Amino acid sequence: MSIIEQAIERMGQLKRAGVDIGTEPEEAAAPAAVQPLAAVPAAAAPVVATPEPKPANEPVVVRNVPDASSRYVELDLARLDSIGLVVPSAPRSQIAEEFRVIKRPILANAHGKGAAPVDNGNLIMVTSSVPGEGKSFNSINLAMSIAMELDNRVLLVDADVARPSVLNLLGLPPAKGLMDVLLDDSVNLPDVLLRTNVEKLTLLPAGMPHKNATELLASGAMRSLLVELAHRYPDRIIIFDSPPLMVTTEAPVLAQSMGQIVVVVEAGRTTHTMLKQALSKVQDCPVKMVILNKARYARTDGYYGYYGYGYGYGYGADSHQAKGDDDGA
Ligand SMILES: Nc1ncnc2c1ncn2[C@@H]1O[C@H](COP(=O)(O)OP(=O)(O)O)[C@@H](O)[C@H]1O
Ligand SMILES: [Mg+2]
Repeated sequence: MSIIEQAIERMGQLKRAGVDIGTEPEEAAAPAAVQPLAAVPAAAAPVVATPEPKPANEPVVVRNVPDASSRYVELDLARLDSIGLVVPSAPRSQIAEEFRVIKRPILANAHGKGAAPVDNGNLIMVTSSVPGEGKSFNSINLAMSIAMELDNRVLLVDADVARPSVLNLLGLPPAKGLMDVLLDDSVNLPDVLLRTNVEKLTLLPAGMPHKNATELLASGAMRSLLVELAHRYPDRIIIFDSPPLMVTTEAPVLAQSMGQIVVVVEAGRTTHTMLKQALSKVQDCPVKMVILNKARYARTDGYYGYYGYGYGYGYGADSHQAKGDDDGA
């Protein structure tokens, strides 16, 4: 059964179980509401002229600067808790429990304990079809949830460089990051990493806005950086909050370097056709997982629930044949 068929079957199970997974978009009176966090919008980055990127295919130099040189930032964990994010101080919250389920298969693959070996299993791309489906929200929750484990260190990369929002969601001011490393030879990776008061969680911000920001994700400089990350942090789980798959050509290129792809589906908005098209862009990636975001079901705290509902290895060319009509996922 393909990942889409599994997803559709799971949707049916949830509906039959009385879970409100949102109306189908064609019938929806209004798009799925995002009230709890609507006050924390993604910052639209202004476009400024900046230097040309470093030349493609330059040799990889692993600069051996310890992370201790990285800046330290303090996350306001009470605030993060209040907007529905996973925090270490509330390990048994409903959201933490949901991500406990979601992260398990991801960690198994990252540690080579999945059903099949996965190359670069520690490189995890969180993406979706279009903007606004919950990539950043889910990236942060996944990163935080994994960082709460005893044995895992996490690097959360804001790679949605055209619409960066990780720092904003975390309540942090803009900072140098990925773009600066890609564009400026004098900026080294450890210089822009942000260590946090969640001991095992480190951030790599998107960095300076650039008119060709997304294009840079498919550049030779980015490939070199990914190799550097893999060399420098082989034991770290690296989560990339990434651009949507259907809006740019660079996101699918970035996906080729990843071991695992997490596709966020927004209940009541993402259609089967959108999901099918998004998955077809990452068909060569060995592991794809789908998270159904903003599924509404009875929760006492007023936040949305999540269901991880599709999961598969090595899907072949025919794996994206969705059954059924183009109704809302
Ligand atoms: N499960 C959820 N519960 C509550 N708010 C959410 C949820 N998922 C996303 N949001 C909110 O919806 C908006 C869009 O989500 P975001 O993660 O920024 O989308 P993307 O990164 O895909 O563009 C943000 O304001 C975010 O905080
Ligand atoms: Mg985002």
